[in-house]
Amino acid sequence: MKVLVTGGAGYIGSHTCVELLNVGYDLVVFDNFSNSTPEVLKRIEKITGKSILFINGDIRDEDAIEKALFGCDAVIHFAGLKAVGESVEKPLEYYDVNVYGTLCLVRVMQKLHVRKLVFSSSATVYGDPEFLPFTEEHPLRTTNPYAQTKLVIEEMLRNLYVSDQTWRIMILRYFNPVGAHESGLIGEDPKGTPNNLMPYIAQVAVGKREKVSVFGDNYPTKDGTGIRDYIHVVDLALGHVKALQTINKPQCTAINLGSGKGYSVLDVIHAFSKACGKNVSYMIVPRRAGDIAEFYSDPTLAKEMLSWEAKRNLDAMCTDMWNFQVKNPKGYV
Ligand code: NAD
Ligand code: WQD
Repeated sequence: MKVLVTGGAGYIGSHTCVELLNVGYDLVVFDNFSNSTPEVLKRIEKITGKSILFINGDIRDEDAIEKALFGCDAVIHFAGLKAVGESVEKPLEYYDVNVYGTLCLVRVMQKLHVRKLVFSSSATVYGDPEFLPFTEEHPLRTTNPYAQTKLVIEEMLRNLYVSDQTWRIMILRYFNPVGAHESGLIGEDPKGTPNNLMPYIAQVAVGKREKVSVFGDNYPTKDGTGIRDYIHVVDLALGHVKALQTINKPQCTAINLGSGKGYSVLDVIHAFSKACGKNVSYMIVPRRAGDIAEFYSDPTLAKEMLSWEAKRNLDAMCTDMWNFQVKNPKGYV
């Protein structure tokens, strides 16, 4: 089976390509490298010993998508913009790439009669928790433009399925992806200052930054810092393989991909310190605007529908993240 992977050079996409190649899928990767580099593709080939077909194109270019999609049986759609803060400053860009880009992709899929789609959504569509853990039935209400683009796309896909019930769509809602491939060849390589906790910690540990700023220690949590459901990126990648293998009947289903466990910011700093063998310095600073005290997934549906669950623990997430950071102190450059 041949699969089009949009955004396949990115963080989650690259790890998913490795796992798809490992189980024998043929791949076409489609990316414009706006947040990645061609070096990633070489490294995927090095890890797997297999080659991938690559098309450099923009997800908003239907002609380019059509060329890439020709002969494919399914699509995994990662391509998009993902920084919450940037989405507040540049909402139109986020709607353009995320919403309009997905519209273009789905239109071409419709034209070429490709009906299997796995879409990268996010736990951020749940917004402030009404109850925890988040099940897929939790109300959807977003708090920033990035999250809103994911919600609009989800709704578009649900509407599409109602209009034509030959579609097989899985909407995967990721919790907090971290870690790297155990080879240390691929991992997360944020441009500029990292927005997310774990890449920031890794850069402090390697000496690139001085201290982690812990955003608030007065939340109603066990140690006052924010609690999240971290998931190893390789587990997440394996969830996509399961989704592709399972999506054999018409549906449009949203599924959480998380571990079901919550860890605080201080838990993560301590686990990372253990993994890298030195104390990661931190200081408490005021809360970050818009942050939620605590959220984590109920991963039951993924277990039932995909026979999938996260296996790698927080120590493995930190060890693999550190291994990538040490082997690539300047990222992919
Ligand atoms: P990433 O930025 O590493 O990967 C996205 C890839 O898409 C990059 O290679 C980028 O170059 C490409 N891309 C961006 N705009 C494009 C365009 N216009 N045309 C073609 N390619 C384009 O991000 P990631 O962390 O791997 O995330 C992948 C997907 O998962 C995104 O849709 C993101 O919103 C979603 N997601 C990510 C997280 C997370 O914390 N990393 C959490 C939930 C959901
Ligand atoms: C985790 C915890 C922070 C940085 C974001 C997006 C979400 C999703 C994943 C795509 C929180 C604290 C962080 C730092 C800190 N992406 N923190 N110091 O905010 O849960 O989710 O990324 O869909 O949409 O919103 O992840 O890693 O930024 O924060 O104390 O320097 O770490 O307050 O409690 P978040 P994060």
